Amino acid sequence: MGRIKKERSRLFMKILIIYYSQSGNTRKIAKAIARGARSAGAVVDVVKLKDASYQMMDDYDMIGIGSPVWKADTPNMHGFIDKMPDQKGKHCFAFNTHGALPYLYFPIVLPNLKNHGLLPIGYRDWYGNVTMPGMPKPYYTYGHPDAQDVMEAEAFGREMAENSPKIATGDTSLIYPDPEMDDKVFQQAMICSNMLLCPTNPQGTFIRDASKCLYPKCTICMDNCTMGYIDLTKTPQKFGNRGDRCDDCHECSFCLMLCPAGAIDTDPPILEHAKGCIGKRHLTFEKMLDDAEKAGKFRRLIPVEEVGFDTPYVIAHPRHPYFVIPKETDEG
Ligand SMILES: Cc1cc2nc3c(=O)[nH]c(=O)nc-3n(C[C@H](O)[C@H](O)[C@H](O)COP(=O)(O)O)c2cc1C
Ligand code: SF4
Ligand code: SF4
Repeated sequence: MGRIKKERSRLFMKILIIYYSQSGNTRKIAKAIARGARSAGAVVDVVKLKDASYQMMDDYDMIGIGSPVWKADTPNMHGFIDKMPDQKGKHCFAFNTHGALPYLYFPIVLPNLKNHGLLPIGYRDWYGNVTMPGMPKPYYTYGHPDAQDVMEAEAFGREMAENSPKIATGDTSLIYPDPEMDDKVFQQAMICSNMLLCPTNPQGTFIRDASKCLYPKCTICMDNCTMGYIDLTKTPQKFGNRGDRCDDCHECSFCLMLCPAGAIDTDPPILEHAKGCIGKRHLTFEKMLDDAEKAGKFRRLIPVEEVGFDTPYVIAHPRHPYFVIPKETDEG
């Protein structure tokens, strides 16, 4: 067994794809990239961020890193990269899925990867549907990632697996140039820094009503908290970045979305926040999507008239759980 493993790693390039995904968009893209890389002869393993370790990275020739765009990357992926030991020039590629604001991710993530000794040889982003309590249902990007996105992700995976050995033997022209630092990046940086300067979660403070909680029969929030802030095994039970509540500023709402018992809400209640979103158009986001569409970067799958401005997500889904994580399959 050990000999076979050794020969497998000697003959084939080995790629580890580490991803984070809440609503399944980035997972779908990660799996498509993996299929593409396999079609080029690579051995590819795909792991969720929570199952990834720095030690396992040592067994691979190239690392793929993917997450949704939350301003730039997600705070948990940011934390993982921040503590990464020096990778001594190992090749990597980066990818993401996003709503309307894709431009800040790579200018932030690529330097972070380089600072930890990874050499990014390529990067790509895809549009993805947005699932947030106050956001329109359906959202402007509804339907993404679709079959064409998946095909493009497979092609990207193939390209990364084919390019890495050529780059290793000297063809550095295949390394993607750094992203352009144009007006779009600065515009998005302004929008995001405004959001991040808000010290708390603009949707409200997340609280848990222990009397409604189904623990220990249910552990969903604890198993899926983006930042590992929930530990109901402890006495007293720990919930959120403050121990008894969560006001992390990244606009995360995953525990509330997943709770089957309606035991997690915000203060003030999430329905109040959502009601305040009824009829609201996101004009800056719309402009960015219009421009992206004109530039051939965004394929609109629903016309703007069909965007659910009057049906923010939690109003369109009045029952608990608001959101169920899509079942994992080979495709996504
Ligand atoms: C908390 C949160 C913050 C988000 N922030 C942004 C953002 O700043 N810019 C953007 O374009 N999309 C943003 N989105 C949308 C996601 O990037 C998009 O829906 C992505 O495809 C989700 O990927 P996933 O299904 O893998 O979780 C945000 C979504 C969430 C839940
Ligand atoms: S998801 Fe809801 S019911 Fe389940 S453990 Fe968390 S608070 Fe309790
Ligand atoms: S909002 Fe909920 S899931 Fe998100 S970080 Fe806070 S406690 Fe965790």
